[in-house]
Amino acid sequence: MYTIHFKFQEKGLEPVTLFNQEAGDSILEIALKNGIDLHHNCGGVCACSTCHVYVEKGEDYLPELSDREEDFIDRAVNPRLNSRLGCQCVLEDGEGELEILLPDQSQFLGE
Ligand code: FES
Repeated sequence: MYTIHFKFQEKGLEPVTLFNQEAGDSILEIALKNGIDLHHNCGGVCACSTCHVYVEKGEDYLPELSDREEDFIDRAVNPRLNSRLGCQCVLEDGEGELEILLPDQSQFLGE
């Protein structure tokens, strides 16, 4: 089980902490299940960059970055060294704490 802290670049949004999140779910799925707005224009199949997030803590609990994911991250707005695609960040078996920073979602139009 994981504890995940979501922080937001969008002004006015307070951080959210989710407890008891299960391995096997992606950061995108966890966000959506909990009412956190994270775009996913391709539906979560690593074919866009709208689910871009920053993993501030806990990257060891996530699978390694694939070449394909890296390609799409390059097209995201303001990619950084800790950039990942939320749909590709499936929690591995284990337990721990992650901190995820979400880019401002108001920059995207549509789903
Ligand atoms: S939702 Fe499109 S790459 Fe994640």
